[in-house]
Amino acid sequence: MTVHAPAEQVRIELGERSYPILIGAGLLEQMAGMALPKAHAALVVTNTTVGPLYVQPLAAALAGHYQQIDTVTLPDGEEHKTWPTLQRIFDALLERASDRKTVLYALGGGVVGDMTGFAAACYMRGVPFVQVPTTLLAQVDSSVGGKTGINHPLGKNMIGAFYQPQLVVCDLATLATLPARELSAGLAEVIKYGPIYDMGFFDWIEANVDALLARDPQALAHAVRRSCEIKADVVGQDEREAGLRAILNFGHTFGHAIEAGMGYGQWLHGEAVGCGMVMALALSRELGGIDAAFVERATALIARAGLPTHGPKLGAQRYLELMRLDKKAEAGEIRFVVIAAPGRAQVRPAPDALVAAVIDRCCA
Ligand code: NAD
Ligand code: GLY
Repeated sequence: MTVHAPAEQVRIELGERSYPILIGAGLLEQMAGMALPKAHAALVVTNTTVGPLYVQPLAAALAGHYQQIDTVTLPDGEEHKTWPTLQRIFDALLERASDRKTVLYALGGGVVGDMTGFAAACYMRGVPFVQVPTTLLAQVDSSVGGKTGINHPLGKNMIGAFYQPQLVVCDLATLATLPARELSAGLAEVIKYGPIYDMGFFDWIEANVDALLARDPQALAHAVRRSCEIKADVVGQDEREAGLRAILNFGHTFGHAIEAGMGYGQWLHGEAVGCGMVMALALSRELGGIDAAFVERATALIARAGLPTHGPKLGAQRYLELMRLDKKAEAGEIRFVVIAAPGRAQVRPAPDALVAAVIDRCCA
C-alpha cells in the first residue's frame, strides 16, 4: 500500500462561500474520509478520457457518503464546451429526477470543471458542487475562484456565472497520466502568477521549470500550492472581478483571440495564454512598464516550458475585432492586462496602432 503525505490546505476566504483547496498525491482515494457536502445523491461529471482513468476510484471513495452515485461522460475537448454538451448534464440530472440534495462532482480539466460549475449554478437555481481537477491547468487556476461557463463561437467563455464550489481536491497523482503538451499548457497559468504578483515565485519557476516538466512531485506540489495561494488571495479581495481580479487574465486577451480565431481546440487554452503573455509583455514594454531584458527573460521561460511564443497570423485587424468582444472591454475599447513593473500588473487601454504593431511583430 502506498503511504501518501497528508494533504496541504489553502483556504479561499469568501465569507459564507469560503472553502478549502486540498492538495496532495493520492487524494482521490482519501476522499472517503473527507468532509464532503451532505446529500443523498452525487452526479460525477467527467469526459471520455478522464472517466476511464479516475471515475472508479472517485466513485469508490464517494460510496460511503451518498446513497446514489451516477456518472455522466461528456465528449472531450474545448470544442465541446458548448450549450449542447451542457444540456447533457441537465439531461442526466432530470432523467434521474435529481433534486436539490444532489451534489455535482467535476472530474477532469478546466473544460469539465467550467461546465459542471455552470450546470451546478443553473440546475434548480443552484446545487452544490465539488471540483476534482485532473490537469495542471485546472489545479492551479480553473478549479479555484468560481468562474464557470461555456464558449460562444464568437467569444471565449462568454456565457457563464460566478458560482463557487464547496471544495477543491487537487490529487497530484492524476498528473502522472497527463500528456506532456497538456502539462506545458498548465505551466502557462503557473508562470503568469510571477510577472503579475510574485517575482519570488517567478525566480523559483525559472530555477525549477525542468523539474516541473519532469513531473518532480515536490516541484509540482509547490507550484500548485503557491498558485492556489495567489489565486485565493486575489479572488478573496475581488470575487466578481470588479477590479483586481482582472490581473489574472494576463495574456488572456490576446490568448482568447487566438483560440476563437483559430477555432476552439486548435491551440490549447494554455498555449494561447503562453503566446498571449509574450504579446502582453511586448505591449507592456511599449507602454514603459518593463524593459527589453525582462521581456526576453519571461519569453525565454515561456519557451522553456514548451509553449509557443509566436502567434498565428490571423492579421492584426482580426485580432482587434476578436478582442473587442473581451469581457474587460468597455464601450468597444479593449483593456489589456499589462505589467507595470515586474511583479505588478495593471489594466488599461492602449492605442490600436500600437497593439497592431505588437501583433504584427509577435506573429511574424
Ligand atoms: P481540458 O479540460 O480540455 O483538459 C485537457 C486535456 O487533458 C483533455 O483532453 C482532458 O481530457 C485531458 N485530461 C484531463 N486530465 C487528465 C489526466 N489526469 N490524464 C490524462 N488526460 C487528462 O483543458 P484544461 O487545460 O484543463 O482547461 C482549459 C479550460 O479551462 C478552458 O476552457 C479555459 O477557458 C478554462 N479555464 C477556466 C478558468 C476559470 O477560472 N474558470 C481559468 C483558466 C482556464
Ligand atoms: N482565470 C482567471 C480568473 O479566474 O479570474
